[in-house]
Amino acid sequence: MCGIIGYIGSEPVTPILMQGLKSLEYRGYDSAGIALVDGGKVFICKRPGKLSRLEECLKSKIIKGNVGIGHTRWATHGEPNQVNAHPHFGDNYDFMIVHNGIIENHQVLKTELIKEGHKFKSQTDTEVIAHLIEKYYRGDLAKTVCKVIKLLKGSYALGVISRLQPNVLVGARKDSPLIVGVGKTGNFIASDVPAILSYTREAIYLDNNEVVELTEKKITIYDISGRPVHKKKVLIKWDVKSAKKGGFTHFMMKEIHEQPQVLRNILKGRIRNKRVVFEQLKFPEKQIKKIDNIQIVACGTAYHAGLCGKYILEKLVQLPVSVDNSSEFRYRDQIIKKDRTLVITVSQSGETADTLAALRAAKLKGAKILSVCNVIGSSIARESDGVVYIHAGPEIAVASTKAYTAQLATFYLLAIYMGMVRKTLNFKSADKLLKVFTKVPALMEKIIAEQGKVKSVAQKYIRKYHYRLAEQLKFLENEVKVFKDARKALAFAKVCAQKSYSAYGRRFGDFPFLYLGRNINYPSALEGALKLKEITYISAEGYAAGEMKHGPIALIDEFPLVVCIAPKSKIYDKMLSNIREIKARKGVVLAIATKGDREIRKKEYSDFLIQIPDIDEFFSPLLVALPLQLLAYFIAVGLGCDVDQPRNLAKSVTVE
Ligand code: AGP
Repeated sequence: MCGIIGYIGSEPVTPILMQGLKSLEYRGYDSAGIALVDGGKVFICKRPGKLSRLEECLKSKIIKGNVGIGHTRWATHGEPNQVNAHPHFGDNYDFMIVHNGIIENHQVLKTELIKEGHKFKSQTDTEVIAHLIEKYYRGDLAKTVCKVIKLLKGSYALGVISRLQPNVLVGARKDSPLIVGVGKTGNFIASDVPAILSYTREAIYLDNNEVVELTEKKITIYDISGRPVHKKKVLIKWDVKSAKKGGFTHFMMKEIHEQPQVLRNILKGRIRNKRVVFEQLKFPEKQIKKIDNIQIVACGTAYHAGLCGKYILEKLVQLPVSVDNSSEFRYRDQIIKKDRTLVITVSQSGETADTLAALRAAKLKGAKILSVCNVIGSSIARESDGVVYIHAGPEIAVASTKAYTAQLATFYLLAIYMGMVRKTLNFKSADKLLKVFTKVPALMEKIIAEQGKVKSVAQKYIRKYHYRLAEQLKFLENEVKVFKDARKALAFAKVCAQKSYSAYGRRFGDFPFLYLGRNINYPSALEGALKLKEITYISAEGYAAGEMKHGPIALIDEFPLVVCIAPKSKIYDKMLSNIREIKARKGVVLAIATKGDREIRKKEYSDFLIQIPDIDEFFSPLLVALPLQLLAYFIAVGLGCDVDQPRNLAKSVTVE
């Protein structure tokens, strides 16, 4: 939540800050701002709304300075307006700060500061930090920050500049990510790697309670008591291209297309001499043999990958696996058996606050933690006993796609590896599985090449949606006599839907989706529904198809679109029975089925059909994911939604 960037050096600061903010905008996009210091002068500009509004405002300004900070916000305290946008400052313009995180004791600190005469302008928790720095500053900004962070409870990544020390940029972190970029013409702080990739690939990862002091040529890191700490630089392997759209209209589409290659890389890196290798797992085989249960914790899409992981691990490793949402797991009485329970945390960003807290809660109870992460050096990765990186490259679109299939792929490999260590899987069976698995990237490519079919289903749905809207507007016509005929109503409905879907769509034509799947594709149903609601704002529910009769069947009439995930499998006939039950109630079915399945294409089963290549049902979630992602994408585009930056969401949820 929130992205921060800071630069000190000889290059013009504003373009560096703006480019950094652009690549961090996925972290929050309800307001943005920058602050620069030029000798004794200060420049601050903040705007509510997307970054483009800030950009617009900066066009007409001549801004100088050699040090600056920037922020893109996802509001936690105070509505997203200009006053609450960062950077914040104290009573005068001596100190400017940007912050990502939450200061839990801000109210107590604020009351005290007000008593002492400080005047607050915003409703944010952040502003107290600026006033505290102002209160305690005695000529050394880094030392002041060390002193101030001792007073703070909560989480923070901070960037601080001062016109009293124009040649210094200070950063600090606790429980919110902050990296230091080591450049040739200056140095950087940023919430995430993509913000600095155009300038440097050398970085230092700050740990909790560390403060960094940057000048143009020097970087000094201190612990909270002000003692210098020596830290190593790391070389970032991601390249600049990987964080750009590369000719695609949206990051989401680019990331959907990247999936076959991501899977190929994962397979290439982890299969040697027909065996799965996890060189940096840090879990000795002896330890893996001792485990008698597995607990997976994660949020959102990563949770769905974890649910699928349960089916995969239980089949190949033959141990009981529980899966929990991190936000639930962290507060319940977790049953952890020391050395016997393996906790697997799954997180693309490695910074999700609830997952990090769940990890810590499990650790306190003596669990060994294995993390499945994408972002190298992230908090979750660093606090785990062992890490398996999914190597998906930067995922920028808020809606996760390639990280999901990369997490699934990692579960397959992990299960094959653990199964062989624990002897629940022999070499021959493992080899057979790997042979099927290595075919997946090429099959994914086929689905992507045939995306036109998914697009046409999406377009048909949208047309249906517009008609529904038109019907409802026609109904309104009788009420308010606004429209003369259905055609005009339809035209108007289209304009409503395209121009202001979120305003009109929900009011007039909510046309919900139901996603049904069974067994290993039950998590696929949940993930398909999540993708759709995230980027189109259409109500969508995912259900285990067998649960339909226990409630959701009441929703069925001719309006919801029921997406039935029914690839060839041992429970295929059960899915067909569910579909029959839906059709018997006038339900509209979109079936996701295996190519060559003649039965399901009959009118009595499906109104719409999307086919996936034939594959063993065990690996089918890897293929099913793609048409579901594409469907959500094309509907979102058709309805004029902001695909990469859906409302109210942020990519990394670093607050509880
Ligand atoms: C996915 O499309 C979502 N944006 C969201 O559910 C996400 O998967 C969740 O917040 C977990 O994030 P993480 O993988 O970075 O921990």
